[in-house]
This record gives sequence, structure tokens and C-alpha cells, in this order.
Amino acid sequence: MSPKHRDLKAPEHIAVIMDGNGRWARARGLPRAFGHREGAKTLHEVVAAAAGLGIGWLTVYTFSTENWRRPAREVKGLMKLIAERAHAEQAGLLESNARVRVIGRLGDVPPVSRRKLDDLVTTTAACTGLNFTLAISYGGRAEIIDACRRAVESGHPPSDENEFRQLLYDPTIPDPDLLIRTGGDQRISNYLLWQSAYTELYFTETLWPDFHRAELEAAIAEYGRRQRRFGRV
Ligand code: IPE
Ligand code: IPE
Ligand code: MG
Repeated sequence: MSPKHRDLKAPEHIAVIMDGNGRWARARGLPRAFGHREGAKTLHEVVAAAAGLGIGWLTVYTFSTENWRRPAREVKGLMKLIAERAHAEQAGLLESNARVRVIGRLGDVPPVSRRKLDDLVTTTAACTGLNFTLAISYGGRAEIIDACRRAVESGHPPSDENEFRQLLYDPTIPDPDLLIRTGGDQRISNYLLWQSAYTELYFTETLWPDFHRAELEAAIAEYGRRQRRFGRV
């Protein structure tokens, strides 16, 4: 990334759809679970890279509301992996001053994984470096429905976009500037539907376990070349 790009147009918030773990494993004749484990290593690397590049916010799609429809064994393995990594990464994240948030329908997450995630959020709550958010049991439509429910319960229907935003899972998270999807598919898959109204989209064929620092830098450089207009001329 040239200094020019960094100075002029670095994305403040990067959202990532970490896709392709299953295909990465299949290409090696391994069970899908191996791909998920490798994907967790990649995430560790990308978090460190994002923090090093001075990215303010990183939000990663870890498990969607639709992913509950996968075979029970895969779902169980993913929840176990989330619990394990949340615990194992805690000290390092704290050390690097990263603040972790979790968004999604966490009531559906098994208690063990939920506890580890809660722990991670609480432990890093005072950190002031990278704002690192995990979207777990997350769906953009679910988030909008949940916001509507909260509005009805409160008896105060939102009168504009700003008021509606306050009803989202975490209104302090800014809209993503750049959304990266790995794995070759060019779709949103129910991620951050409200927030990505004017987000720049970046798709790469690279499978998530193969997405390393250089690819992150390439995506950021590409973002620097985009012209955002927000409807203006
Ligand atoms: C992304 O990889 C991880 C999750 C959705 C949990 P996939 O598991 O979707 O991998 P592919 O897309 O089948 O290769
Ligand atoms: C999107 O990937 C969800 C996550 C990366 C967590 P999927 O693999 O679930 O998306 P589709 O089914 O290909 O659209
Ligand atoms: Mg997939």
C-alpha cells in the first residue's frame, strides 16, 4: 500500500465474509472441520495485520443465522471452535489493546460458547485499539426484525434513519467502508444489510484459509482507488 493511499483513503471499518473453509479442506481431501481450524488461524493473522495497519474497525462474519441449517456435527464443531478460540485468543487480544464485540442472536448460541464470548467482551471492554467485532448467529434480516421488535416494545417508533440505527445490535459500530468476501462467490449472504447500503464491495477467489496479509493490503489498496459518491455527482 502506498503512503498516498494510506493517507488519502484508508477504510476506517472493514467487514469480512470469511468464506471457503469447506472447499479449502475438500481440496486437500480433509474433513470440513480442518478448513474451519485453518480459517481460525487466518483470522488471528488478519486481526494482527488490521491492527498493524491502523484499521479502526474490523467486523467478521463468523456464523450466520442460516448456518444453523448445516449438519448438526458441523454446527457443533463450529460452536466448539468458537469457544476454544475465544478463550485462547483472549490474552493476546487484551495485550494488543483490541476491544471485542459480538453481534447476533446470541440467545441461540450454546451456553459454553456464549460464556467464553461474554468473557472476551468483558475482559477487553476498556481496550482502545482495534474494534474487533464477531458476527455470530448473525443475520441482517434478523437484526432488522429484532430492531423492529424493540421499537414496538419501547412504544417509540423510529422516525428517521438515525433513530432506527439506535435499535441495531450495536449502534456504536460505524457502517463498513469496505466489505471483503473471500471464496469466489459474489453475494452478501445476509450480512450487515442495513449497514452496507454504501459500502464498497471487494470479492476475491482466494479461499479464506489462504487469505493472508498481502491480500488484505491489496483489498485496502483497491479501496483507495474507488470513488465513493453516496448519490452525489
Ligand atoms: C465459511 O466457510 C465458514 C462458515 C460459513 C462458518 P464455509 O464453511 O462456508 O466453506 P465453503 O463455502 O463451504 O467452502
Ligand atoms: C456466509 O457464508 C456466512 C459466513 C461466512 C459466516 P456461507 O457459506 O454461509 O454463504 P452461502 O450459503 O454460500 O451464501
Ligand atoms: Mg461457504
